Amino acid sequence: MPLTMVSASSPAKAILFGEHAVVYGLPALAVSLDRRLEMTVHPSEVWTVDGAPLESRKHRYIRWGAENLWDGGPLNISTRSSIPSASGLGSSAALCCSLISCFLEMRGAMSPEELARKAFEVEYNVQGKASPTDTSCCTHGSAVLVSPDRRDDHLWSISKEERTWHVHHVPLPPMELVVGYTRTPSVTTVMVAKVRDYYQRSGFARETIEEIGQLTMAGLEALKKGDLVEVGALMDRNQALLSILGVSTKELKKLLDAAAPHSYGVKITGAGGGGSMIALTDRPELVEQAIMRIGGTPYRVRPSNTGTTVGP
Ligand code: MEV
Repeated sequence: MPLTMVSASSPAKAILFGEHAVVYGLPALAVSLDRRLEMTVHPSEVWTVDGAPLESRKHRYIRWGAENLWDGGPLNISTRSSIPSASGLGSSAALCCSLISCFLEMRGAMSPEELARKAFEVEYNVQGKASPTDTSCCTHGSAVLVSPDRRDDHLWSISKEERTWHVHHVPLPPMELVVGYTRTPSVTTVMVAKVRDYYQRSGFARETIEEIGQLTMAGLEALKKGDLVEVGALMDRNQALLSILGVSTKELKKLLDAAAPHSYGVKITGAGGGGSMIALTDRPELVEQAIMRIGGTPYRVRPSNTGTTVGP
């Protein structure tokens, strides 16, 4: 019997290493966080989102998914989220994963791999260039390594145009993170295009991106050993390279400088140009206070093992 109502829940994410580089096929490591988007979907006379009609501009991800990946009638979609939008914390990946998991569940076809593939299709088609990092992390939970080569703990592989990304499970040591949100939006499409332009023009940009890839693999090893001091040092280095790529801003730098004295390491997370930074720390209260003092919004978060869940 077809389900008449399903509910899904998807986690936020932070990229610990490798944002932007992963778009060029280099590795990235992302972690799911204990903030979530909840969605309920049921059949309806007309398409609605949170009580309002589905709009092409406002609901771009839902519209693309509905037009391309749904074969049934109109749906009433309700969402509730503790993930600030355009914050670099994967709010759009969480929206895509919840939506597609509801579609799959209603057709009795839910599988994590299918979800990761289809949610990526939505992000890719709405955002232009994108890697499957955010949507795979949001599907799987815990942490994922996305890399150009297939390794142990392989989950699935996703190809687009000339690239194949292999997605792997990464076990994480216990860790505390504080997110500092600038309250200015991070527009992934714009930042990815900006880096692409630099990448195409400059050998130095290409070397910088290669170095981010190497550092991500060193970060993976440090995480496996539970060496948070080394993880932090590598995050700082990754931040320096992201600044060279031009995705840091004055507001982000203020938050990074405030958090750094109380942290193992600090860096922006996600596309940059606004959005958020993360601090790896064992003194989260001090980091929260420092971020608040200079006008940022802190979120104390922990990695979450729970990826996207869906059910009646
Ligand atoms: C955005 O969270 C991460 C980027 O690397 C883009 C992507 O991987 O799709 C900037």
